[in-house]
Amino acid sequence: MKVLITAGPTREAIDPVRFLSNRSSGRMGYALAHAFIKKDHHVLLISGPTQLDIPDRVDFIPVESAQEMFDAVSHSIQHFDVAIFCAAVADYAPDHVATQKIKKSADSITLVLTKTPDILGSARTVFQFNGYLVGFAAETENLESNAREKLTRKNCDMIIANDVSRSDIGFDSHENEVLIIEASENTRLPVDTKEHLAHHLVELIHQRVLQSKKEQP
Ligand code: PMT
Repeated sequence: MKVLITAGPTREAIDPVRFLSNRSSGRMGYALAHAFIKKDHHVLLISGPTQLDIPDRVDFIPVESAQEMFDAVSHSIQHFDVAIFCAAVADYAPDHVATQKIKKSADSITLVLTKTPDILGSARTVFQFNGYLVGFAAETENLESNAREKLTRKNCDMIIANDVSRSDIGFDSHENEVLIIEASENTRLPVDTKEHLAHHLVELIHQRVLQSKKEQP
């Protein structure tokens, strides 16, 4: 299969030296890339800035901002059987990027933020992607209901939900615990290393893609 994966955080510039970002380490997305490669699938990894080594044998596009990630996905996604959106994309970015470093003068300053493009939300509509679509859901409450709502709203085949209110799993940790939401079932994968979870996820996604091909007329 040809698999596109987004991973890592985005950085939204405030001025030439400052940005808004989040705690994503990229580990979950890179673990998926490794696991697909190990099973001889073709992987394109589109990643925000991380400290991780680029996995061997993946095609790699480094990006910084949500807009850059949107552009990279938009140019490539049509060529893939599976797209997995693991990146922690900033939902808002500064409206205006200062060309010079902002000086410390006023006692307080106000940043006006504007919504970034929803990359996963554009997959079916703007990009017309008709392959197998997997989103992640990073939730701090109502994990299952919020993730199921994302499955429907973003027209995904699968949502992999994680509870990011916990410090032992999710963002910037080596382990995760996920609830896999599909149209007719939920599957819980208990706490494990991101590498082990990635192998389970690869098996499941591969099975589902084979099933959906059989069901196609
Ligand atoms: O990188 P690690 O430290 O290993 O941590 C892994 C993780 C916690 C980042 C990962 O498991 C995870 O949950 N990734 C999704 C994070 C997120 O932004 O979730 P969300 O619920 O806000 O977004 C829902 C989905 O829409 C995600 O698939 C996200 O990639 C996508 N999205 C969000 C906003 C946006 N502008 N474009 C998007 O494509």
